Amino acid sequence: MALNNLAINDIMEKALNAWTSAPPALQYTLAALGALSIFKGAAAFLRLLLNSFILSGYNLRKYGKKGTWAVVTGASDGLGKEFASQLAAKGFNLVLVSRTQSKLETLSRELRLKWAGLETKILAMDYTQDKDEDYERLAKLIAGLDVGILINNVGQSHSIPVPFLETKRDELQNIVTINCLGTLKTTQVVAPILVQRKKGLILTMGSFAGVMPTPFLATYSGSKAFLQHWSTSLASELQPYGVDVQLVVSYLVTTAMSKIRKTTILIPNPRQFVKSALGKIGLNSNETFPNTYTPWWSHNVFKWIIESTVGAYSTTTVNINKKMHVDIRKRALRKAEREAKKQ
Ligand SMILES: NC(=O)c1ccc[n+]([C@@H]2O[C@H](COP(=O)([O-])OP(=O)(O)OC[C@H]3O[C@@H](n4cnc5c(N)ncnc54)[C@H](OP(=O)(O)O)[C@@H]3O)[C@@H](O)[C@H]2O)c1
Repeated sequence: MALNNLAINDIMEKALNAWTSAPPALQYTLAALGALSIFKGAAAFLRLLLNSFILSGYNLRKYGKKGTWAVVTGASDGLGKEFASQLAAKGFNLVLVSRTQSKLETLSRELRLKWAGLETKILAMDYTQDKDEDYERLAKLIAGLDVGILINNVGQSHSIPVPFLETKRDELQNIVTINCLGTLKTTQVVAPILVQRKKGLILTMGSFAGVMPTPFLATYSGSKAFLQHWSTSLASELQPYGVDVQLVVSYLVTTAMSKIRKTTILIPNPRQFVKSALGKIGLNSNETFPNTYTPWWSHNVFKWIIESTVGAYSTTTVNINKKMHVDIRKRALRKAEREAKKQ
């Protein structure tokens, strides 16, 4: 211990000597660089606090008056259902797109009962089928409507964390077809209307798995990373036409997909998450990628801590993520075994 202290003292003395004997120009340059990096860190922290706790995003009226239409995919459950409900509350008419006709009918009826004057249209399509006719049906359904908002929410993850080499062919096919192709093709159908009316919003659901490479959810992680680059590129292309394109980054939320029922400080429910997603559009000054935001405050702080310490793409982060998903897989397999024994 004493030897360590001596060694530290020695190093500090040498550093001090080197500093005092350095030419003044070098001293000023190094001091300025140090001050700049402290200032940059403090400014980034301030932006994080402002975006997470104080500032509000664009007012949704930017995209159209009451009665403007919003298209929501994956609308019959989880976050999509909540996007639909909160947009209806703000006076947007709804085109609800999802897989199950009966769930869409029920949601449409409930929302029209709750909000007098609300108009809805529904389209049941299974994105895994990747049928041209489905996209043609969507185009017909929205033809002539004043559509101002597209929520690209539909998505699928792995049923449980799984090594890539053991991932079933249909699971990986479905994840890529729904998350990537489905989002791209839906956007190609809807976005021309937004471009034509020279104002609009396209929100696409990203994920922490798209920010940080996630072993054992490799296909899902890749599909969400794909959406990040696609969305940011599209944002730049559509900006001259008055269309805002934003990727929404989220950690876990209590839905059927996450299989988590209890909220925690890090895991909001869909109502809380969607309220922040619709309330913080455009607040992306603390993000690595432009036109991207992390609306739920604790997700934003958590991501910032990772990015400004170990880094989102570091081996340490990937290893921690891997261990977490290996553990989730073990628990899921044990649960499946218990349930199999009961039958
Ligand atoms: N929940 C989270 O923790 C979390 C975290 C990060 C990102 N996200 C992203 O948020 C989005 C919504 O997730 P969620 O948790 O709300 O999911 P969810 O509760 O499982 O709901 C998914 C919705 O998509 C629809 N859907 C699923 N497969 C479909 C298909 N093949 N064709 C058409 N519709 C289909 C479902 O329709 P049915 O009702 O007919 O099944 C349902 O309406 C996804 O993009 C997801 O990746 C979620």
